[in-house]
Amino acid sequence: MAAALKFNFTSFTRPHGVLVVFCEENLKFGPATQRALSSLGDLVRRAAAADRFTGKSGSSLDIVAPSGLNVPRLVVVGIGKESELKSRDIVKFGGIAMGKVPTAAASATIFAEFGSGPLKANQVADLALGARLRAYTFDLYKTKRKEDEERPSKVELNFACTNAASAEKVWAQQAAIADGVVLARDLVNEPANVLYPAEFARRASGLSKLGVGVEVLDVAAMRKLGMGALLGVGQGSVHESKLVVMRWNGGKRGVDPVAFIGKGVCFDSGGISIKPAANMEDMKGDMAGAACVVGLMHALAARKAKVNAVGAIGLVENMPDGKAQRPGDIVKTMSGQTIEIINTDAEGRLVLADALHYVNKRFKPKFMINLATLTGAIIVALGQEYAGMFCNDDKLAERLTKAGEAVGERVWRMPLGPEYDKMIDSKFADMKNTGGRWGGAITAAQLLQRFVNKTPWAHLDIAGTAMGSPQTDINKSWASGWGVRLLERLVEEHYER
Ligand code: BES
Ligand code: MN
Ligand code: ZN
Repeated sequence: MAAALKFNFTSFTRPHGVLVVFCEENLKFGPATQRALSSLGDLVRRAAAADRFTGKSGSSLDIVAPSGLNVPRLVVVGIGKESELKSRDIVKFGGIAMGKVPTAAASATIFAEFGSGPLKANQVADLALGARLRAYTFDLYKTKRKEDEERPSKVELNFACTNAASAEKVWAQQAAIADGVVLARDLVNEPANVLYPAEFARRASGLSKLGVGVEVLDVAAMRKLGMGALLGVGQGSVHESKLVVMRWNGGKRGVDPVAFIGKGVCFDSGGISIKPAANMEDMKGDMAGAACVVGLMHALAARKAKVNAVGAIGLVENMPDGKAQRPGDIVKTMSGQTIEIINTDAEGRLVLADALHYVNKRFKPKFMINLATLTGAIIVALGQEYAGMFCNDDKLAERLTKAGEAVGERVWRMPLGPEYDKMIDSKFADMKNTGGRWGGAITAAQLLQRFVNKTPWAHLDIAGTAMGSPQTDINKSWASGWGVRLLERLVEEHYER
């Protein structure tokens, strides 16, 4: 079991447990920190010299059992130059601080102060957010644990600050977001024998506890609606496909909702166009777009966001089977348009084609943003640092870009255009589901665009960022929960008035 973290917000009094403090370059400490360390004489200065520690951003200094201070360990975390810090850096320092708390410790105190003095309430909460995300582990299926790597079942984190009451209030909001990220990570980390469409739908239904309205459409309901593209993908699996619609109405009555749509391929074997064996296990994470949507809806509901939001996730399993769809098959989508299947491994766009059309038609949303681990080609293009963004609306694109910079979940805009669109015209149907190797991420996006009409829309291809991406100071898990904080910030900044 992952350790339960308890967050306390206190004043700068006597620290409890491992003490973490911050300093700027040239060992510049804030006033409360200086006071707390005054009993140590020049111990910190000598230890710093011995370690060549100067306070550079991200560096740290450990002093075990410092005599003169009643703590088991003192950790100094360097922050570089305070004037250059953004909110996402403060979240990162929260992660670094948590990473320096030894796994044996049952309590720690983090001094929420930089060189110029105590942090503001929202910055204290940013530190706590970073600590929470850093501490996440997924060890549900480890029955044997290395005792010395295991945290105590309860860990107390005390954030010393001058504004404990307001920090605690902001944290309640941030904790809602952290829980959303954690939920998304858990869903992506779960194996596909556990998390198949019905089980995923059951977990999404858990959001009803927060006041989210949840509907689950089964195969019969989707057949009635004519969702031949989504259903074609799932027809080779013993697990029934599902479409889950979540609604949070925190805004004014009658105001058009914002809408988020997720690719939820619980396992992508490729189907009849089966994938090679190497790394196929990663395809349990092919539902990361759907996981993000569920995590986001959790965050919005848990902090009672003043917005009307719809989340929709298409849940299927893509398997080879006697009943599976074949290359050459032609399916009819809910929109009426037909698609020729060239490669059964290009399945995510088929699921999204029906989900996007359904949401657009039923809810007339202000905008639609879909998330999908859609193509390997986007990883070739952008690596794992940026998600690909395809967008038919400059304002929405700019807002997403800025929100991404602010929280550190960045998107890079990619092109759309009639020349690319032509590449998916089909000899036999209205379109085909692949456009060849060149520009593979773009032709996938072009197919989606054929199902959104004039509604402002963005497609985020998160194949590189959602899982197996480089570990960071705030994520040590395979699944990153990418997108929850980005979209949460977008809503908070622009759609809550
Ligand atoms: N789920 C994959 C894309 C993917 C690949 C995500 C690697 C994460 C890591 C998607 O369904 C897929 O198979 N795409 C194919 C499309 C091709 C057949 C046109 C791809 O990218 O190769
Ligand atoms: Mn595929
Ligand atoms: Zn896929």
